[in-house]
Amino acid sequence: MVQSYKHEPFTDFSHDTNKNDYLTGLKTVQAYLGQDYDLLIGGERISTEDKIVSYNPANKQEVIGRVSKANRELAEQAMKAADHAFNIWKKVKPEVRADVLFKAAAIIRRRKHEFSALLTKEAGKPWNEADADTAEAIDFLEFYGRQMLKLKDGIPVQSRANEYNRYDYIPLGVGIIISPWNFPFAIMAGTAVAAIVTGNTILLKPASTTPVAAAKFVEVMEEAGLPKGVLNYVPGSGAEVGDFLVDHPRTRFISFTGSRDVGTRIFERASKVNEGQIWLKRVIAEMGGKDTIVVDKEADLDLAAQSIVKSAFGFSGQKCSACSRAVVVEDVYDEVLNRAVELTKELTIGNPEEQSNFMGPVIDHNAYKKIMEYIEIGKQEGRLMTGGAGDDSTGFFIKPTIFADLDPNARIMQEEIFGPVVAFSKARDFDQAIEIANNTEYGLTGAVITKNRMNMEKAREHFHVGNLYFNRGCTGAIVGYQPFGGFNMSGTDSKAGGPDYLLLHMQGKTTSEMY
Ligand code: NAD
Ligand code: ALA
Repeated sequence: MVQSYKHEPFTDFSHDTNKNDYLTGLKTVQAYLGQDYDLLIGGERISTEDKIVSYNPANKQEVIGRVSKANRELAEQAMKAADHAFNIWKKVKPEVRADVLFKAAAIIRRRKHEFSALLTKEAGKPWNEADADTAEAIDFLEFYGRQMLKLKDGIPVQSRANEYNRYDYIPLGVGIIISPWNFPFAIMAGTAVAAIVTGNTILLKPASTTPVAAAKFVEVMEEAGLPKGVLNYVPGSGAEVGDFLVDHPRTRFISFTGSRDVGTRIFERASKVNEGQIWLKRVIAEMGGKDTIVVDKEADLDLAAQSIVKSAFGFSGQKCSACSRAVVVEDVYDEVLNRAVELTKELTIGNPEEQSNFMGPVIDHNAYKKIMEYIEIGKQEGRLMTGGAGDDSTGFFIKPTIFADLDPNARIMQEEIFGPVVAFSKARDFDQAIEIANNTEYGLTGAVITKNRMNMEKAREHFHVGNLYFNRGCTGAIVGYQPFGGFNMSGTDSKAGGPDYLLLHMQGKTTSEMY
C-alpha cells in the first residue's frame, strides 16, 4: 500500500549534521568534476566528438562536465528507439511504471545533498535553493507516481441496462521533453517522469548550461529499472536538434519549459502537419513571467518588504515566478520601498558553495550581459535605489538591484529580465494597483499583501495569474499543494504538480460493450 503524499521537507542547515552532509555532497561532486557524459539512445551509451562543456557560473574556469552532443542523425536514431520502446512500455502496468518513479525518488533521497551540491556547482544555486530544487524533483516523482495509480482504471461513466461503458486513459506516443536551466533538476525530472509514468517514451533535451544534472538523473532512472529506450538522453543545440525533433512526424507531443520566444516558436512549428504525420501534435509550454507583488495600504509593511526582497532576489531572480515588479499603494509607497532597500543592502552575494551567501551568480555570460543591459535601461527609466553593478571577473555576479518610480509601461516593467532586478511603481489606490499588476502579456504568479478582506477577494477575482498568493512572496510553489503554471504568454495553462497534469500526456478512450 502506497502511503499518502507529503512534500519532501526542506533541510535545516542550522544543524551541524545537515551542514556536514552538504559539505560531503560538495566533496563527492568535486571528485567527479570534468568527466565525460554520453548520450543514451535505446539503452546504448554513445560518445560524440562534439561536446557541450558545462562550466561553474561562480568560477568560469571550472568545468563541471563534458557532455556528448546529439546531431540530427543521432536524434533520428533516438526517435526510432523511443518509437520502438513505446510498443513495449505502453503495455507495462501503471503500477510498475509508478514503482520506477518511487524507486528513483528513494535513490535521489539517499543522495540528496550530492544532487543539491551538483546544482550549486552547475547552476550556481545557494544551498537552500539547491535543496528546494532537489526536494521538488523528489516531490514530482512521488506525486506523479501516485496520480498515475489514481488514473489507472480510468474515470467511471454511466452504463445503461445490458451495456458496459468504460472511459480509460491511454498514452500518446513519443514525447520531446525540452527543459530549462533554472530548475535543472526539478523541472527537467518532473516533465520527464510525467510523460514516462503515463506510458509514453521520451527524448530528453536538457538546457545546454546544465546538462550534467540531467545526465545524473538519467543514471538514476536506469538504476530504478526503467527499460531501455523509454528515456533517451539527447542534449544538443536548440536550433539544430530542437527544431528537428519538434518538426519530426513521429513526435506525438512536446513538453517545453523555457522562454516565451522559444515556446511560441515551438508552438507554431508543432502546428504544421508534416509528411507522414497522422496526428496533431500536442504542446505543453511553460513560459516566462513578469510577476508582481501588490502592497495595499492596510498591510504588514515589513512582511511586504521581506516578501518582495526574497521573491526578487532568491536564486538571483532567475525564476519564472520571481517578483520583478512591486506595485505599492501611494500611502505606504516610501515606507515599503525604503525598507526593501534596507533589507537588500544586507544581502550577501558570492560563491554559493559558501553557506553564508544568500545570492550566487547568474547562469552565464549571455545572461550577465542581458541583465546588465536592462540595468542600463532601468537607469534611464527609473531611479536606481541600490545595486546596479556587476562583476564578471571570476563568475557572473550582479548586485541585487532596485529601481523606483517606474511608469507601468516602462520596459523594465514589461519585459522579463530574469535576473536580480525589481522595479517599484506607485498606484493611486488598490484598484489601480491590480490594474497595473495585470498590464503585462504574462500571467504566471503574483502576490498581494493586505489585511483588507474585501481587497483580498477583489484580487482573487481580478488579478489574472495562474498562481496567486496572499500575504507571502510569489515564489516557491510546492508540488501537490500549489499546482504551478501561468496564463496568457506564460504558457498553455497547464499546472505542474497538479491533479490534472498527467492527463495532458494521455488520451481518453471510450469503450462500450453490449451484453
Ligand atoms: P530557453 O527558452 O532559452 O531554453 C529552454 C530550452 O529550450 C533549452 O533546453 C533550450 O536548449 C531549448 N531550445 C532553444 N531553442 C530551441 C528550439 N528552437 N527548439 C527547441 N528547443 C529549443 O529558456 P531558458 O533560458 O533555459 O530558461 C529561462 C526561461 O524559462 C525564462 O523565460 C523562464 O521564465 C522560463 N521558465 C518558465 C517556467 C514555467 O513553469 N513557466 C519554469 C522555469 C523557467
Ligand atoms: N515552481 C517554482 C516556483 O514556484 C518556479 O517558484
